[in-house]
Amino acid sequence: MNEKARQIVLAARPQGRPKPSDFRLEETPIPTPSDGQILLKIQYLSLDPYMRGRMDDRKSYAEPVPLGGVMEGESVATVIGSKHPAYSEGDIVLARTGWRTHALSDRADLRKLDPSVAPVTTGLGVLGMPGFTAYAGLRVIGKPRPGDTVVVAAASGPVGSLVGQLAKIDGARVVGIAGGPEKCAYIKDELGFDAAIDHRDSDFPSRLAGACPNGIDVYFENVGGAVWQAVLPLLNKFARVPVSGLIAQYNGVGKGDGTDRLPATMREILSKSLAVRGFINYEFAAEYYPAFLREVGAGIADGRIRYREDFVEGLENAPEAFIGMLEGHNFGKLIVRV
Ligand SMILES: NC(=O)c1ccc[n+]([C@@H]2O[C@H](COP(=O)([O-])OP(=O)(O)OC[C@H]3O[C@@H](n4cnc5c(N)ncnc54)[C@H](OP(=O)(O)O)[C@@H]3O)[C@@H](O)[C@H]2O)c1
Repeated sequence: MNEKARQIVLAARPQGRPKPSDFRLEETPIPTPSDGQILLKIQYLSLDPYMRGRMDDRKSYAEPVPLGGVMEGESVATVIGSKHPAYSEGDIVLARTGWRTHALSDRADLRKLDPSVAPVTTGLGVLGMPGFTAYAGLRVIGKPRPGDTVVVAAASGPVGSLVGQLAKIDGARVVGIAGGPEKCAYIKDELGFDAAIDHRDSDFPSRLAGACPNGIDVYFENVGGAVWQAVLPLLNKFARVPVSGLIAQYNGVGKGDGTDRLPATMREILSKSLAVRGFINYEFAAEYYPAFLREVGAGIADGRIRYREDFVEGLENAPEAFIGMLEGHNFGKLIVRV
């Protein structure tokens, strides 16, 4: 077999916005499975905002990728060789393989995917980690009630789009924040959000206030930065703020607008008795994952829940697509067709 495996490693730790030269494409021999292992050929690689944090040498909830190490990531892969009794060639699985074309696994964290239930790529988005983040953050922390106003940013992405649709199912009024007219039209016209506000508009804070005449009861935080600043004065007493992500800050300080939002944030938390809770999706997995798969799976099957995927062709194009996602160039769940 002359075919080689390919992988993308972290070549340098980015200073601010990552550059293509922070990544390196390498060729390696295709590995051979030993007893108890399977060989996977990756079909689809998920690109997710958390990967930016793994590129920094900083303590977080997960270890950084070492310099020269393969970039982390989840993928949909086909079993092409098996020395494990539970797996056969042709099985399709969800696996944490990293940015590569081939990988060995001893099956510690594999989920088999059934293409007859839903397209397998949904395991990386609406029926996978991002979808579960939306489900757990909204249902466990946000707890929207009928008539509540729910606001979510990065609203056309895999997390935000499901937050908004679930909140609608729960009877809330939903305001989505997104970048640009096309994404705003999508969340309003196709996903059924009640209002869509473009965070790039110069009068974004007053437009957001206009779209939330009764204030905000649940703010699902995906972004931070200037969006948080606009949301903060609109929060109602006892509002709930699931803090899922802060993508506006991922490329580091120094790029912001120089505003220190902490004093205002603390004042509002106290005076309005806000419940602000950060979370990482897997903290809720043991208790809520089956219910998530049941409810969102059924919603996709009957058309009540919709999703959008944004495909990039070829592993070699993953770095550029990833860099673009941090600035909103993706439209829907970003997936590399490896
Ligand atoms: N806590 C957890 O367990 C967990 C799990 C998964 C994801 N997350 C977080 O959830 C958030 C969304 O993730 P996703 O996978 O659904 O990503 P995504 O929406 O596909 O991609 C990120 C989006 O963020 C928006 N964005 C980037 N910079 C922004 C800025 N400065 N201001 C406003 N919006 C900005 C862009 O959309 P626009 O063009 O609309 O601005 C971009 O498309 C991220 O913060 C991620 O880290 C958390």
